[in-house]
Amino acid sequence: MNCVKDWPEPIVPVQSLSESGSRTIPDRYIKPPSERPSFFNSTQTSHLNNIPLIDLGDLNTKREETLSQLYQACTEWGFFQVVNHGVNPQLMDRAREVWYGFFHQPMEVKQAYANSPKTYEGYGSRLGVQKGAVLDWGDYYFLHCLPCSLKDQNKWPALPPDLRAVIDEYSAQVMKFCRKLMKILSENLRLGEETLQNAFGGENFGACLRVNFYPKCPQPELTLGLSSHSDPGGLTVLLADENVAGLQVRKDDNWITVKPAPHAFIVNIGDQIQVLSNAQYKSIEHRVIVNSDRERLSLAFFYNPKSDLLIEPAKELLTPETPALYPPMTFDQYRLYIRTKGPRGKSQLGQSQNSPR
Ligand code: OGA
Ligand code: NI
Repeated sequence: MNCVKDWPEPIVPVQSLSESGSRTIPDRYIKPPSERPSFFNSTQTSHLNNIPLIDLGDLNTKREETLSQLYQACTEWGFFQVVNHGVNPQLMDRAREVWYGFFHQPMEVKQAYANSPKTYEGYGSRLGVQKGAVLDWGDYYFLHCLPCSLKDQNKWPALPPDLRAVIDEYSAQVMKFCRKLMKILSENLRLGEETLQNAFGGENFGACLRVNFYPKCPQPELTLGLSSHSDPGGLTVLLADENVAGLQVRKDDNWITVKPAPHAFIVNIGDQIQVLSNAQYKSIEHRVIVNSDRERLSLAFFYNPKSDLLIEPAKELLTPETPALYPPMTFDQYRLYIRTKGPRGKSQLGQSQNSPR
């Protein structure tokens, strides 16, 4: 297999392990018992609800009600699904199709985009550079959409032929949706509607896309597609496979398996908005389970602050009773942690990284 010198070990794409036909997974992917999906040997998630579903089409006719649903979703769940978000449904389908097209190409074609831990841009199979770490059962493609100085379409896959154009348009529409959400989230904190966006650097915010590909796994009960983590950035807009569940969201001591609604986005609050809101909004841990008969693809779009601005709790929210819970830090400083250590619960925000029972 291809060996990139700045990874601690040679990179083996999970897809090639999956396609080898082996009925067992290598030890490197076996999680300690406390982190394995409880889904397979208990019914603890079955009685619980799905994450909130919000219809943004109601924003004009039922504004108060929609804002209050969003407030509750951000403060109690940190996760919600949105329909009527303004992004073209056919474009969403095309975005999924072009990425399936990319991952279904021969390995040599994908390896031409192999990434390194310096920037993570391109085709990869691990997050974190710790030698001997337990790995996740997933491959991914990571690319930048903004700022313009980082966006380089030559680093996006050249095939399928319309991938670059589809993803360019998709990212433009998703950014518009994020811009709209930022106003609502700001208003719901009783801040001016531009306060959160201004804290992100106004029009100089950042945006990137991580496309996750989870191949079929012969022993899904022993591993995870993506270990428990919270997203380090601002907002995440996930387009998940409508036919294959996989994302699990932590709710108190349970893991809720998200059932995607047709043409919905799954939105979650990232760590930077938790900090700006002084923990009114919650950046919640989530993880991905895999399965033995269906592969799964997801597009995670990250809407982030300009990376060298200091992010700290909004001054307007601070009182003697509610002092700042976090020190100022730039997003660049913050994300170095996750990029070195890999996904690890929420330890970087000073919270427990233990998985629920
Ligand atoms: C992520 C993520 C979830 C999924 O990429 O940060 O949480 O369902 N993805 O792939
Ligand atoms: Ni995530």
